Amino acid sequence: MEDIIALCKRRGFIYPSSEIYGGMAAVYDYGPYGVLLKNNIQDAWWKNMVQYRQDVIGLDSGIFMHPTTWKASGHVESFSDPQIDCRVCNNRIRADHMLKKYGYDFDRVSVEEINKTLSELSAKGKLHCDKCGSTDMTEARDFNLLVRTNFGSPVGALKDMKEEDVVYARGETCQGIYLNFKNILDSMRVKLPFGIAQVGKAFRNEIVARQFIFRTREFEQMELQYFVHPRDMAQKFDYWIEERMKWYFDVLCISKENLRLKKHDKLAHYAKSAYDIQYNFKSLNGFDEIEGVHQRGDWDLTRHSKFSGHELDYTDPTTKEKFVPHIMETSVGLNRLVFMVLDFAFKKEELSNGKSRVVLQLPPSIAPIKAAVFPLQKDEKLANAAKNIYTNLCKEFSVEYDDAGNIGKMYRRQDEIGTPFCLTIDYQSLEDNTITIRERDTMRQVRVATSESASYIKDKL
Ligand code: GAP
Repeated sequence: MEDIIALCKRRGFIYPSSEIYGGMAAVYDYGPYGVLLKNNIQDAWWKNMVQYRQDVIGLDSGIFMHPTTWKASGHVESFSDPQIDCRVCNNRIRADHMLKKYGYDFDRVSVEEINKTLSELSAKGKLHCDKCGSTDMTEARDFNLLVRTNFGSPVGALKDMKEEDVVYARGETCQGIYLNFKNILDSMRVKLPFGIAQVGKAFRNEIVARQFIFRTREFEQMELQYFVHPRDMAQKFDYWIEERMKWYFDVLCISKENLRLKKHDKLAHYAKSAYDIQYNFKSLNGFDEIEGVHQRGDWDLTRHSKFSGHELDYTDPTTKEKFVPHIMETSVGLNRLVFMVLDFAFKKEELSNGKSRVVLQLPPSIAPIKAAVFPLQKDEKLANAAKNIYTNLCKEFSVEYDDAGNIGKMYRRQDEIGTPFCLTIDYQSLEDNTITIRERDTMRQVRVATSESASYIKDKL
């Protein structure tokens, strides 16, 4: 984990938020390479989930929704995690995560049950703060994860905010999809089964803040809500689980042994059945959730129908059967995928010359920079030729020009940001219009005609 965090900062992928003010826990900023990597993953997801399909359309709904949305969805009442505080250093800990360290699996267990176990451990003197070591801890309390803010309140202290002014920064993006279900039916020629996909920010007042970008308070979700006739749910659920696994293997190139499915025994308030797709994080010492695939049944449409007074049902155009569609959901945090691909790609290699290198073996299709162009040494003629090649290539994909060091240093830098190809212009290039292309993973070099360099890279991408 430390190696990845250090690389992300050193090489402009990810920075801690508000660092000059001492930082802000569990919020991160994406630097120049981070944003490219994130966008490439998002783009690959969108292509797979929307562009390549005829049965899914896209949406971009607002972060803020009518506050009743979150009462109808059940989040105001049930969207919480158990929290304990250290009375000495005020460290705030998620009780179920703490108990995991003692061998208990307390996912979605009542706070009363958690407190029973906590007091047993405490009586044995086993319970202590993971920051200062004190045994003086509070009981567990439910801590609602919705982030509250206000609209329209007069100037004044936030504590004086009236309940009717409270608005929530969305805790999951899918609620905007449900609120637009009728709009989509009325404006688009969709027929069941069909899906609505969206990517956008979600916000959660997470308690634990020490897992880098795995669990953050502000994150991007990529969600698909797939509407089906209830009788088709089981089949579509299996289909989508398989589709999503395939995407990880084929597009993000994660190896089979590093991904697994885990069925949920305990379900969120909206779910009828749920699986996690889990990845084996080297930096977190084991498998953890990257994506949820859930059967939400008719919970969401029925609740929004009840709270809004608008019917959210569907009439089959052939049979005229009227019913509330059931929903199958796939939901993944984009930031978590960035972490996963960095974790999988990060390698420290010993080289045959006795030196070592750090390399990010990212799939070329999602690498932030596809190619780097260097003159072999500082020479105006070489630099001009290299800049020409750079100018042509950057119309095709993201390319960098570099002449700031010796060739070895420039290779190392590109290895660390995962650039799959480095193109070097030397004196031979000036004579015969060829260049050398060095591949990141094998470090093999080939000489190709300059005019073919773009197609050579495109083929590999
Ligand atoms: N709409 C369903 C839903 O939100 P979830 O299991 O709470 O379900 C789905 O979240 C996915 O969103 C998770 O698998 C994870 O990838 C991502 N996610 C949830 N909370 C997150 C957080 N605090 N930071 C980063 N990603 C998060």
